[in-house]
Amino acid sequence: MRVLVIGSGGREHALCWAIAASPLLTKLYCAPGNAGIAREAECVAIGADDSDALLDFCKREKIDLVVVGPEAPLVAGLANRLRAEGIRTFGPDAAAAQLEGSKGFSKDICAKYNIPTAAYRRFTEAGAAKAYIREMGAPIVVKADGLAAGKGVTVAMTEEEAIAAVDAAMTDGAFGAAGAELVIEECMVGEELSFFALADGETALPLASAQDHKRVGDGDTGPNTGGMGAYSPAPVCTPELERRIIDEILTPTVEAMKAEGAPFKGVLFIGLMITEEGPKVIEYNVRFGDPECQVLMMRLQSDILPALIATADGTLKNFDLRWQPKAAMTVVLASDGYPGTYQKGTVIRNVDGAEADPDVTVFHAGTARNDAGDLIATGGRVLNVTAVGDTVGAARDSAYAAVDLIQWPEGFCRRDIGHRALD
Ligand code: AMP
Ligand code: GLY
Repeated sequence: MRVLVIGSGGREHALCWAIAASPLLTKLYCAPGNAGIAREAECVAIGADDSDALLDFCKREKIDLVVVGPEAPLVAGLANRLRAEGIRTFGPDAAAAQLEGSKGFSKDICAKYNIPTAAYRRFTEAGAAKAYIREMGAPIVVKADGLAAGKGVTVAMTEEEAIAAVDAAMTDGAFGAAGAELVIEECMVGEELSFFALADGETALPLASAQDHKRVGDGDTGPNTGGMGAYSPAPVCTPELERRIIDEILTPTVEAMKAEGAPFKGVLFIGLMITEEGPKVIEYNVRFGDPECQVLMMRLQSDILPALIATADGTLKNFDLRWQPKAAMTVVLASDGYPGTYQKGTVIRNVDGAEADPDVTVFHAGTARNDAGDLIATGGRVLNVTAVGDTVGAARDSAYAAVDLIQWPEGFCRRDIGHRALD
């Protein structure tokens, strides 16, 4: 089987690493990939947004399965285009990708199908948005409707902060077209949990739980990032809670999308708040989490390729996956300055040394090779040092021991990944 993975981050490296282990694979490509992905796949210099070139490549190389990593091409309709040409694709059509592409759309789905989420209203006009904020009071949450690279959400502790967020989105255009419409919602309180499931339009197959660390600094301080580390399983996700998430949120969401004529085929990543009343949807994503995917792939025992194919083909019913009973943790190494401005091209040494431990795999998120063949950093999030262990604590010890072997003076990481599971 000839497979093309689309994307260039740590998530795509983990997917390529898992797919490369499949006995069904004959050839793996990644577009555009990175220096670490090049160990598992042949990287081709086509951007994830270049659907013409991707389509040509798939036809020319007789690709049997395309796995789309990031959300933007899905929201833009890449899966529609590939499927229309008869190319088997893992990832939702544009209509189903609206679950992530429009927060207003996803909130309306929850409201219509009684899926628990924060109370909300949608606004296209700043005056009405501000009046609603004054009526509801703080804390309150202001969200840009569209894709805003993880930056479109303000959890406002005061009315002034919420009103400033309305001005930033609607008057200053901080998120471009994505902020022309806003969702303003109730601020929920509780612990956060990421829940993942494959869905083939009809059937959902729950994967494992994971927890992410979004803030840049230790103790959950500083600005939000794409995620500074993750671990799986998340102890907060008890079997009883998992049952409720499946019955009250996952299954109703898959059924809702089918009823709307937009069946969801791909991986559904549900961001949840575990409130006193039970689990509630914070947001939907239509792709694997990054870096959550890295810990899921480390724990997955089954061959991933048949699962991706069953998702694409609509044959997930009665499908089963086996997971290691072990825990996994990933620690993100980022360039100094991230999520603000940072230097590119700094040299990283001894990743091989870090990987000498058989429990450790280093996934690359933003790397390349310079002319001298050195590994260099090309992004904000650069490496994902990932380890398995009998417990979250053991995985953490192996991951940080490996982190400490990597020589990269211009990089940093959080030192407290997993603290909520370990305290
Ligand atoms: P999102 O980009 O939608 O994942 O939101 C970013 C973060 O904002 C989430 O991980 C939560 O920590 C927080 N957040 C979003 N919506 C709410 C809400 N309604 N109540 C409390 N926190 C929220
Ligand atoms: N780590 C959070 C995300 O992928 O959105």
